[in-house]
Amino acid sequence: MGIESKIAELLEKRKEARLGGGLKRIDAQHGKGKMTARERIELLLDEGSFEEFDMFVHHRTVGFGLENEQYLSDGVVTGYGTIDGRLVYVFSQDFTVFGGSLSEMYAQKIVKVMEKAMKVGAPIIGINDSGGARIQEGVKSLGGYADIFQQNIMASGVVPQISAIFGPCAGGAVYSPALTDFTIMSKDTSYMFVTGPKVVKTVTGEVVTTEELGGAQVHATKSGVTHFVSEDEEEGLLLIRKILSFLPQNNMEDPPHKVCNDPIDRLDDALNNIIPENANKPYDVKDVIFSIVDNGEFLEVQRQYAQNIVCGFATFNGASVGIVANQPSYLAGVLDINASRKAARFVRFCDAFNIPIVTLVDVPGFLPGTTQEYGGIIIHGAKLLFAYGEATVPKITIILRKAYGGAYDVMSSKHLRGDINYSWPGAEIAVMGAKGAVEVLYSKETKAITDPEEKDKFIKEKEEEYKDKFANPYVAAKYGYIDDVIEPRNTRFRIIRALQMLATKKDSNPPKKHSNMPL
Ligand code: HXC
Repeated sequence: MGIESKIAELLEKRKEARLGGGLKRIDAQHGKGKMTARERIELLLDEGSFEEFDMFVHHRTVGFGLENEQYLSDGVVTGYGTIDGRLVYVFSQDFTVFGGSLSEMYAQKIVKVMEKAMKVGAPIIGINDSGGARIQEGVKSLGGYADIFQQNIMASGVVPQISAIFGPCAGGAVYSPALTDFTIMSKDTSYMFVTGPKVVKTVTGEVVTTEELGGAQVHATKSGVTHFVSEDEEEGLLLIRKILSFLPQNNMEDPPHKVCNDPIDRLDDALNNIIPENANKPYDVKDVIFSIVDNGEFLEVQRQYAQNIVCGFATFNGASVGIVANQPSYLAGVLDINASRKAARFVRFCDAFNIPIVTLVDVPGFLPGTTQEYGGIIIHGAKLLFAYGEATVPKITIILRKAYGGAYDVMSSKHLRGDINYSWPGAEIAVMGAKGAVEVLYSKETKAITDPEEKDKFIKEKEEEYKDKFANPYVAAKYGYIDDVIEPRNTRFRIIRALQMLATKKDSNPPKKHSNMPL
């Protein structure tokens, strides 16, 4: 065979591989409103940047007629390319080949790109659309999953890992995305569960639809398993590009600097009046975030989950930060189990990847009650405490209004190695709110007053006395727990200055195998 026919053979094989499970199945995939594995990669990466590996791999299983059914690439497309000119590794499961089910060779292809990503120090993006373990391959498929899990674990905290779920992701297959840093699910076309509706019905008798059990909305609002929901696949792929724009390539690098056209000393007078006079009235902390960050751009993570705490990425003068903020307009911004877990994971991600953390505090304390106590708020609250205390990245904290009790300590206080701790002038930093404090401190005196009007007057007086004495920032400032009390409208400038000052910060934790954080 001459070279020309050899090239023709190569091109023919490439064409065959690109067809995956064939035109009929590609049409069926499109019919469900889904893209093919390769179409997704095309959209995700910079144009023309994709280099594919292992196109000619196929399975080596016999039995169930599989020896006569071979598809080049074996159900997963792998390789590397660039996003905004920066290297990334990618694998994209091909539902048109055996329903995207995972085989021994398929797993090896994924492991190969993950190993390369770690050696080179570049993010890994996994696009999931699969019927799970390839049933005909039995334990080889199960072993393949575990090989991938092991790589996910090794890569954790070394390179960013992002998972998109654009179809089924069931059984043990869910654990690879769960081990990665961020998960995106497409609305209406994706689902994740450990056991499907049929098994649920057999085991528990519960009747539930696929969507109710593991649809995008459920995981965005109830379980917190997914960090983002996209309207469609295209939006999901663009979201991956957006997330990466805030992140470094690996844990040894700093995040990229963006060009910033937003003046660093821009004052926002509206911030001086954003806190309502009445301390029990809510306001939206996202208005504060939009006002202080570059160009009002904020990428919120887990937007619909535990809305009493807001987490997300933004830039200040072009530098990436992670923002954590109590949200007074949802459950008064109280810390509960879900909020603590959500923020702890976010803080740990930022710390692992050298992203400074800006914390905006307005927290009335931890949520009381049996539901929280039985659910282990002690352990879960400790996660957030641990995450902040362990973090060595620059930590800037602004107390906007309330910082009560244990929640004062937890929310990146000076005592947890907070680098810069500022407060707005109206802040109330105390063991508890005035009402609760007066109830405890003056219960005997209050009981002794029989006239209701007198009683009311006495309580009000004591509350005012308490507020004057404790519910202000100056007691904390007196002890140096607060570095300065700042004018709200000047917050952006003060944060940018602090970030610049902390840019070369170095801090470390004692040598250890790993910590034993309360899980
Ligand atoms: C082999 C599979 C497959 C699988 C689907 N196919 N799942 N082949 N192993 N796991 C094949 C089908 O035979 C079919 O082949 C093609 O993929 C498309 O499947 P359909 O059923 O026609 O598609 P659809 O109606 O969209 O349904 C998709 C599905 C369903 C919901 C994913 O296929 C399904 O329930 N599959 C089985 C899921 C499952 O139980 N997997 C094992 C989970 S346990 P043709 O030739 O007709 O195109 C697990 C353990 C992992 O994964 C443990 C890790 C630790």
